[in-house]
Amino acid sequence: MKRVAILISGSGSNMVKLVESMTGDHPARPVLVLSNDPDAAGLDKARSFGIPAVGVDHRPFGKDRAAFEKALQDHLLEAKPDIICLAGFMRILTADFVRQWQGRMLNIHPSLLPKYRGLNTHARALASADTEHGCTVHEVTAELDDGPILGQARVPILPNDTEQDLAARVLVQEHRLYPTVLRRFSAQDRTLVLL
Ligand code: GAR
Repeated sequence: MKRVAILISGSGSNMVKLVESMTGDHPARPVLVLSNDPDAAGLDKARSFGIPAVGVDHRPFGKDRAAFEKALQDHLLEAKPDIICLAGFMRILTADFVRQWQGRMLNIHPSLLPKYRGLNTHARALASADTEHGCTVHEVTAELDDGPILGQARVPILPNDTEQDLAARVLVQEHRLYPTVLRRFSAQDRTLVLL
């Protein structure tokens, strides 16, 4: 059985979908949920599933990313995950940290990468008058929102869509895509998922 740690920053809706998927004949199980925000709503959701959930507040570390990551790493080494899923984790990780988990760390990003790395992806897709948008699950490498793409799901952009409309439409697909990719990845299958 593969052990999965999930890193979040907020509501944790993707984390919940991942956790709910890891039952029955699924080759993985959740062992830890970590958040850089100790007040993240997702931590209590994880606890309600009986999963150890820990907040490691990044703020006391200031600009010292390495010290923050050392604190994260201590929790991770104790939980011994085979796979780390970033699920709405809004801190940039250093190359040093990523290297230690490379090939074992996934991220979900709310755009059709390589389009719109970084923040405000929905607003940027609307501003570009794109006709479609979506989300991507990829392996994490030292470059931000880069790394081998494991799956993508597309949604249409409709006339008069607001940023919120589009974010909600993409999130529905995130909730399908990430569990599908994680199941495959847990079985050492890196074939591309297209939804
Ligand atoms: C999701 O839309 C995820 O794709 C995005 O944050 C949201 C988290 O929602 N991630 C990023 O923007 C990463 N740069 P959730 O906490 O409800 O899963």
